[in-house]
Amino acid sequence: MSLTVLDRAEALRKALDAERAGGRAVGLVPTMGALHSGHTSLMARAAAECDVVVVSVFVNPLQFGPGEDLDAYPRDLDADRARVAAAGSSYLFAPAMSEMFPEPPLTTVTVAGLSETLEGATRPAHFAGVATTVTKLLSLAGPCRAYFGEKDYQQLAVIRRLARDLSLPVEVVGCPTVRDPDGLALSSRNRYLTGEERAVAPTLYAALVAGRRAIQDDHERDPEVVRAAMTSTVAKEPRFTLDYAEVVDAVDLTPINALSGELRLLIAAVLGRARLIDNLGAHA
Ligand code: PAJ
Repeated sequence: MSLTVLDRAEALRKALDAERAGGRAVGLVPTMGALHSGHTSLMARAAAECDVVVVSVFVNPLQFGPGEDLDAYPRDLDADRARVAAAGSSYLFAPAMSEMFPEPPLTTVTVAGLSETLEGATRPAHFAGVATTVTKLLSLAGPCRAYFGEKDYQQLAVIRRLARDLSLPVEVVGCPTVRDPDGLALSSRNRYLTGEERAVAPTLYAALVAGRRAIQDDHERDPEVVRAAMTSTVAKEPRFTLDYAEVVDAVDLTPINALSGELRLLIAAVLGRARLIDNLGAHA
């Protein structure tokens, strides 16, 4: 299958309207590029479930706060194009900022509550930036299935909720996190790590596993004890600065006093130049 590269919003809209008119189901995989096997797992899932797959690559300035890594964020469109083609996707949509947002948008999308905790506590404008750009991409793409990684679990929850609240014509599909064999979740930001930092980076995943073990093996129901299991694991590696380690309800991400049902453990820490996040499911 040949790959069509588009950088114009109207061209994308027309192409996908024509695909649907031909009876073909559209799958959308939004990304910020610097593609790795985590991204290609979403493309593979989309290809298995849809007739045509469109991958967007747009480093979205709206979701970066002041002092964050917008300028340093890795960009390599040639390598991305090769990965998208190899995954068998039909379209690559790579708009410039001037095409996506010719003027700074006065209209923004905010998912209250869900966007304010965890990542949102440290990055206050982040999820509004994500939600605004994802809404725009979904509007351009039209009715489709859209694929997002559990790697960014809170983002997935925010997007599910915004699609429901606004009745967007999209089926949001969550996909499991792809990890290196030592447990580190693949991330475009892993390339900020030095060799020594990369060697200790799996500590973050080890902390999540320790938290899950406390819940599922030791039958711990006190969230404070589960948090302590995670923080003490991270504390063994002094290169990390922990931001948060939490256990919350898996659907609405609210804290629970006595752990029960489907839960999510979420963690964020700074390691060298990289701010890493990860999460894991558990049930009690
Ligand atoms: P980005 O970080 O490029 O991620 C694009 C998609 O790939 C997201 O849905 C993310 O959760 C998923 N992903 C990243 N690493 C993964 C891994 N190791 N395993 C499985 N999936 C993984 O997330 C964004 O871009 C942006 O916020 C975006 C949604 C594109 C809006 O700008």
